Amino acid sequence: MAVTAVYPGSFDPVTVGHMDLIRRAAGLFDRLVVAVLVNSEKKSPLFSFDERVIMLQDACKNIPNVSVERFEGLLVDFVRSKKDAVIIRGLRELMDFDMELQMAQVNRIASGVSGEGIETLFLPTDPKYSHISSSVVREYARYHVPLKEFVPENVLEAMKEKGIVK
Ligand code: PNS
Repeated sequence: MAVTAVYPGSFDPVTVGHMDLIRRAAGLFDRLVVAVLVNSEKKSPLFSFDERVIMLQDACKNIPNVSVERFEGLLVDFVRSKKDAVIIRGLRELMDFDMELQMAQVNRIASGVSGEGIETLFLPTDPKYSHISSSVVREYARYHVPLKEFVPENVLEAMKEKGIVK
């Protein structure tokens, strides 16, 4: 049976840490769907939703079993639309764990009866990326700090084009 994994997130913007996780998850599953949340509640996004999707598609173009899709509403509804899929989330540090555990438990309960809900699997972030997050990138970008080590090349280019960094 081919197993699909769904890696959901806001990806504003995709970081090198996300990319590491995407590559590793792509090696573990038959198919990986990177799912970008359409209606993020974040007030001031750095990139529009369409820009985020395009940057992710470009960054993932050489990984054959990865596709980028958008989702709206509840994650479990999106995952249910993929047959027998599991959710993948990265854990960077202990602080992530509380929220991620709660989200995994809620998603499992919300999606299943008698404990047969959608499962979430956690992948530990490579320590060399554990300090990197989209929110750190957004914060630094507002002060025009160069972000070469934080984001894939195409995202850096997009930031330059928008005049966010030099
Ligand atoms: O990259 P992020 O912002 O940490 O990703 C969070 C995301 C998109 C995975 C999460 O907010 C989500 O799944 N949102 C969709 C709405 C939903 O299903 N909420 C219930 C989870 S408790």
